[in-house]
Amino acid sequence: MQVDSGSPAPNVPERYGRVAIALHWLIAALISAQIAFGWFLGEVPRGTPMRGIYVNLHKSTGLTIALLIIFRLGWRLTHPPPPLPSFMPAWERVASRVNHLALYVCMLVMPASGYIASNFSKFGIKLFNVVLLPPWGVDDKRIYAVFNTTHIVTSYLLVGLIALHVFAAVRHAFRRDGVFARMWPSRLSR
Ligand code: HEM
Ligand code: HEM
Repeated sequence: MQVDSGSPAPNVPERYGRVAIALHWLIAALISAQIAFGWFLGEVPRGTPMRGIYVNLHKSTGLTIALLIIFRLGWRLTHPPPPLPSFMPAWERVASRVNHLALYVCMLVMPASGYIASNFSKFGIKLFNVVLLPPWGVDDKRIYAVFNTTHIVTSYLLVGLIALHVFAAVRHAFRRDGVFARMWPSRLSR
């Protein structure tokens, strides 16, 4: 006969794994820097050689971050996160799921829209100024504008989602309810 002792099952992890934590903080830092880089691009005058250098660097770092994001998504799909603590109210569970899902969508749409837009302009992408990726699309200002606008609008959506996310994370940290600690690097983490 099985007796329910009320204690958590021994194999259910309570924290994110080491790889998930490392990927979270690495990508958080890189995306924040990439957003700042994108805003800085707005200050670089169009039609100058410096503009080409900075824009190509932004494209190159963006594509590199995209590879990390795809790896993270693959990791996430094969490594389910620890279940949320049972004391969390239903609205918080829903808010956290929606926020995380939207963050993942924006993390994919950002590099994808930038990459697609670049292929509908004559410039293409010079990967770290070493590898030339010639555009596979036509040089069409209207198509470029659609994807470039998607890139810009999504960047503001992403910033809003990050602000909400950080607000929630800090709230959990002050409450010391263990949710922030699940994602914080610790020697005890698996
Ligand atoms: C660019 C910035 C960031 C992005 C894109 C981001 C994205 C994400 C995503 C997608 C998750 C869900 C993980 C999963 O279950 O797969 C997550 C979890 C988490 N993030 Fe962030 N994050 C960012 C910055 C931060 C910052 C600055 C903090 C702390 C102040 C933070 C704290 C957390 C915590 C505590 C969790 C775990 C939540 C839980 O246990 O349900 N994140 N983050
Ligand atoms: C995680 C990836 C990326 C993030 C977070 C990001 C973020 C940004 C941001 C915040 C801006 C400024 C938007 C504004 O004007 O308010 C920007 C501009 C830009 N991004 Fe990205 N970006 C990423 C990846 C890429 C990639 C992969 C490409 C191309 C291959 C790209 C191409 C561009 C271009 C060309 C601009 C200038 C647009 C203009 O001024 O008209 N980005 N990006």
